[in-house]
Amino acid sequence: MVDNLYVQAANIFTKASAKEASVKSLVFASEYENKKQLYALVCESLKHSYLLLHIAQALKILEDKPYGLFGNMALLQVLLYDIIFGKGIHKSKRFKNTMRKYRERIREYTEFLTKEKGLSCVQDLLFTRSSAVTSVPKYVRVNTLKTRMKDVCKQFKEDGYRRLHRKGKDYSSFLEEVKSLKSEEFIRDIHIPSLIVFPPGIDFHEHPLYKSGEIILQDKASCFSSQILCPPEGSTVIDCCAAPGNKTTHLASLMNNSGKIFAFDMDAERLKILEKFVQKSGTEIVESFCKDFLTTNPNDPKFQQVEYILVDPSCSGSGIVSRLDEAIDSTETSKHRLKKLSRFQISILKHALCFPNVKKVVYSTCSIFVEENEEVVEEVIKHFQDKFSFTEIMPDFTGRGASSYPNSHHFIRWSTDEDLTNGFFVACFERRIQNEDNTQNFTKDLQNRKRKHSND
Ligand SMILES: C[S@@+](CC[C@H](N)C(=O)[O-])C[C@H]1O[C@@H](n2cnc3c(N)ncnc32)[C@H](O)[C@@H]1O
Repeated sequence: MVDNLYVQAANIFTKASAKEASVKSLVFASEYENKKQLYALVCESLKHSYLLLHIAQALKILEDKPYGLFGNMALLQVLLYDIIFGKGIHKSKRFKNTMRKYRERIREYTEFLTKEKGLSCVQDLLFTRSSAVTSVPKYVRVNTLKTRMKDVCKQFKEDGYRRLHRKGKDYSSFLEEVKSLKSEEFIRDIHIPSLIVFPPGIDFHEHPLYKSGEIILQDKASCFSSQILCPPEGSTVIDCCAAPGNKTTHLASLMNNSGKIFAFDMDAERLKILEKFVQKSGTEIVESFCKDFLTTNPNDPKFQQVEYILVDPSCSGSGIVSRLDEAIDSTETSKHRLKKLSRFQISILKHALCFPNVKKVVYSTCSIFVEENEEVVEEVIKHFQDKFSFTEIMPDFTGRGASSYPNSHHFIRWSTDEDLTNGFFVACFERRIQNEDNTQNFTKDLQNRKRKHSND
């Protein structure tokens, strides 16, 4: 049965994505005769799965009922590959009929995408990185330990860029303004006071401000970990998975180089990078430890002043735009690996909550998987609910945790499609007795910082 090409390809696509076996061995074991054709279809669909998923979701085909695809996203992706980039559906009346009514929508949307990306034909979409599909802007964090926002803006203007001032007050108009930034324009971010937004595709690695440590190239979503922890000046902080140091240096910047940050990382090479970064950024309050954070004693007198802890552990990295296609690809995220990561994330978060005087703990990942996010924090709170509760961070922000979890409204998720950032997750634990005060402090502090920066 020729239908089998797509059914078999979808099965292999699903199994290979879950790393149950390699594409090669699955194709070899399949009963489909033309193994070469099957192998090519699966490999191409997996390679471009991010793009195909994006198109499938935009067209909302699986939401149409009655449908002939049984809600099977993998099947839809392999069919879309052949319709858009192949020679059309191969000898299958059944799928030809099912897909016929979408043909026009698929054509219109892929032509729209091609035009939007400035490409010359639909086939060129295959050569775009996933980041080009979703157009993630370039974010530049101003290192306030070395310079001021107004000086950086002035420098960029001298370089020939034009600063736009936000017209709309709400987030959706801001996103529209960001999407329509021209190549020589920039705008200040609506949430992170020290962040500037440029259109995608600009590279500042050779810029003198980057070389001098005055600007730091950090994705917007990852700035929220430190921004939400928001330790006041003079406080004592642990960054328990700190290297290469983006968030450590951001914390120091928020603390105005006053207080103490204990930065842990068990990877010696990565810690060296952090130490260089700390130096380059003018950060003076970091004491670094090449050590497994799980082996630290929370009752060590050295850590008795610790009130703020950032837990940004190793994760699948599945939210990082440039790695999304690999994340879906068979080589990356296996269920087994996710389980292992999740166990580690739970134990490191639990360990952080054991520090006797910690008031606030922020947990963040650049993963899109619930196994590393909602499931981790929901599991941990079960063991600490007499001492800690979740803070409802940024209550007006619409990107909340996955709704099937009881505390989902407390968590924040950033998504590439909605927020033009990497996929990111943040949850915030606060010691119960201080819960209300801290929430208010955070909001107050954020307002003060915004006021301060807009005066800069
Ligand atoms: C997601 S990265 C941290 C990124 C960092 N927070 C930043 O913003 O630049 C996770 C880090 O955790 C470190 N790590 C993993 N297990 C650890 C452990 N048990 N103790 C300390 N560090 C650990 C890894 O070496 C890695 O550098």
